[in-house]
Amino acid sequence: MTTLEIGRDVSLAPLTSLELGGPAKYFVRAADETTLVDALHWAANEDLPSAILAGGSNLIVPDEGYDGLVIQMAIDELDFRTGGIVSAGAGVAWEKVVEGAVARGWAGLECLSGIPGSTGATPIQNVGAYGVEVAEVIESVRVLRRDTLRFEELAPQDCGFRYRDSLFKRDPNRFVVTSVEFALRPNGPGAVRYAELEKNVLPGVSLAEIRRTVLSLRRQKSMLVEPDDPNRRSAGSFFLNPVVTPEDADRLVEQAISENLVSAVDDVPRYPTEGARVKLAAGWLIEKAGVAKGTRRGAIGVSSKHALALVHHGGGTTAELLAFADEIRARVLDRFGVTLEREPRLLV
Ligand code: EPU
Repeated sequence: MTTLEIGRDVSLAPLTSLELGGPAKYFVRAADETTLVDALHWAANEDLPSAILAGGSNLIVPDEGYDGLVIQMAIDELDFRTGGIVSAGAGVAWEKVVEGAVARGWAGLECLSGIPGSTGATPIQNVGAYGVEVAEVIESVRVLRRDTLRFEELAPQDCGFRYRDSLFKRDPNRFVVTSVEFALRPNGPGAVRYAELEKNVLPGVSLAEIRRTVLSLRRQKSMLVEPDDPNRRSAGSFFLNPVVTPEDADRLVEQAISENLVSAVDDVPRYPTEGARVKLAAGWLIEKAGVAKGTRRGAIGVSSKHALALVHHGGGTTAELLAFADEIRARVLDRFGVTLEREPRLLV
């Protein structure tokens, strides 16, 4: 057993990209697996709940904070092995993994450039962007089982990956992700599958060029956390893109045409997805439901660059953020009969 350095009443807001919410009653940094196990033992002995904090870029902390032990994952070993295998601890900044892979000419992660947060979170929400999901390149996920406190290596087919979803997300109290192994493609071609990306790069471009283009597209939408960006305090997309039946998608298109929201059928953004279903664009639905980019409710607003991101402008509360999110959800439901689901996790 290592000596645990447990903090008291540690403010969590600075550890999240939204910069909102109250303190953790107890807090510990786990820089290795032993500390993680010891911390979970300590919480169990004290009869306290425990929760895992990663990069904090997809997390909403309630104003009352967390009445238990928050464990910050800080395992930061990063190893680029021969043959395109990358092993990264849960606490490694995701950008470091992507940057290192692109620098080596290893394909697979270039479209996932500029995503804030840490590596351990990527399998949990099956991070995706520009037509690529991280599940495509995951070789294995090392987890600690919370019931037995034993480590296991899970193969991708055991992780239940779906659009922004996984077994880890569906059953959050079962596992803690401690490291992830990726199998990349040395000298492989980059993935150019997303229409917006295709428009901006030439066929056969380098991974570095794809990465540069993705970073620039994300910057235009305030989806990079940069110090001088007024939209920087956000959790990225606040809602998932709703996945509906083809009939519901057709109904939406009919409504959009009959109400003159668009002039052509193709102007309603939608993409075929798993199980013959259709993914709609939540940002489009929000705007068309009358919530314009830049709309404010006090200290909380919709990003001025992208309707899917909610932004904290400073001095606000989580209650205000959640109230505005509820208002947006109600407006989209009322206008289009589509239910939006929150994407970032609430720390409870
Ligand atoms: N759109 C609008 N208004 C907006 C934003 C978007 O009409 O304010 C329309 C766009 O015109 C486009 C469509 O919605 O036709 C899709 O927009 P975009 O390409 O910006 O992507 P998204 O569907 O809004 C998703 C991911 C992003 C990811 C991008 C690019 C989700 C929940 N979000 O956003 O991921 O970067 O695609 O692949 O799936 C995140 O999860 O935090 C995130 C940023």
